[in-house]
Amino acid sequence: MMKKHHSSGGTTTSQPKDEGHGSMFRARSKLSFAHLVEMGHKMGMENPLFVCHDRAAKATAMINGKEYLNFSTYDYLGINAHPEITQIVAETARVFGTSSGASRLVGGERPQHRELEKAFARLYGVDDCIVYVSGHAANVSTLGFLFNSRDAIFHDGLAHNSLVQGARLSGASRYSYIHNNCDDLEKKLKKYRRSHKHAIIVTEGLFSMDGNIPDLPRLITLKKAYDCMLLVDEAHSLGVLGKTGRGVREYYNLNADDVDMWMSTLSKTMCGCGGFIAGNRELVEYLKYGSPGFVFSVGMPPVVAAACHKALEIMLREPERVERLQGISKYFLEYAQRKGLDTGAAQGYAVLPVIVGDSMVAGFLSTALFSRGIYVMPVTFPAVQEGTARLRFFLSAVHEKEHVSRALDAVVEELPKARAIVEQYNHEHRHGQR
Ligand SMILES: Cc1ncc(COP(=O)(O)O)c(C=O)c1O
Repeated sequence: MMKKHHSSGGTTTSQPKDEGHGSMFRARSKLSFAHLVEMGHKMGMENPLFVCHDRAAKATAMINGKEYLNFSTYDYLGINAHPEITQIVAETARVFGTSSGASRLVGGERPQHRELEKAFARLYGVDDCIVYVSGHAANVSTLGFLFNSRDAIFHDGLAHNSLVQGARLSGASRYSYIHNNCDDLEKKLKKYRRSHKHAIIVTEGLFSMDGNIPDLPRLITLKKAYDCMLLVDEAHSLGVLGKTGRGVREYYNLNADDVDMWMSTLSKTMCGCGGFIAGNRELVEYLKYGSPGFVFSVGMPPVVAAACHKALEIMLREPERVERLQGISKYFLEYAQRKGLDTGAAQGYAVLPVIVGDSMVAGFLSTALFSRGIYVMPVTFPAVQEGTARLRFFLSAVHEKEHVSRALDAVVEELPKARAIVEQYNHEHRHGQR
């Protein structure tokens, strides 16, 4: 439509009025919380989106001079802003500045890059590791680069957007199996695997929406039986699962090479940003010379690599942080269930959803809690299925029992009010009395 408009030299009497690109952005805003925020605003509620923090967010966050109980960030072991990290960052910045200046292929490496990669390879007991500047890019670029139209990618129905985008980019046939359902996966493998050259099964170590753990031993059996590779995204399980935080591999006591690609982001327990793929030497080398998100993107800032490495060191040195996180998560799960809240499939490890069903209810509940000094975000369609909207609480080793009970008591009080507001809204909306 735009092309026609331009080529007609502006004589557009028979054309619909050109609205420019604005209409595109308006259509997209329907997917956002914009209408919830607008309605909340009319009711005097504060907007909890894109808030600006005054300091590092820990168990509490300071936002515009007001302190909030914080359940919206993923500093699972409470390591962010640790004095040892601040110190190593300052020392590294003094020598190397804050940027790598170019892609590592072009502008070379800094010692922090390889030291960090070797540390993650050691952690997983594999040959090597490649670090990307973003966790999202790590998944998109790895899957997008390794697979092509002859191949197949079988992924969990609730796999993170970065995994799905990577699968799409690759051009491989994409089979989404029912969330955490190995029977459905096996059905799909039986039916489709034979038609493809290479295949991979993609899962998360701890699911970021439901807080549940995949049946990794069974996934390993399936990958062997159907000649697939296996990628496990440990974004939410590194630092969270296993006695010492080594993730889902430690949780199940698995062999390192039963999984072809151990992936994790560095933005959660590791307190930085970026992502890695750890695996065998050949794979890592192939990615380093070809994967576009590595080859054509700047190297991780050495200060971030140093920060993540220090965070890993602290995690391994202080397993009591992992124990505290697991303890407070279990307390949350039991308290919520005692109060009659729906925690879905959550198993009590750091990611704790409270499912409320309707997206609008989740939005209103979140804004109501924000007004009461509790910062927890809603997850609504399309991130989760319609009817399963939720508040998603991220727990940290630095949360106290009192934080949890205060937040959940407030949920119990505010939930009926949020439901009533939405019912009223729907009623008026149906009768055109907005
Ligand atoms: C499972 C999973 N994988 C990948 C990512 C992307 O990581 P990052 O935000 O560090 O880019 C996320 C982000 O939340 C995630 O939850």
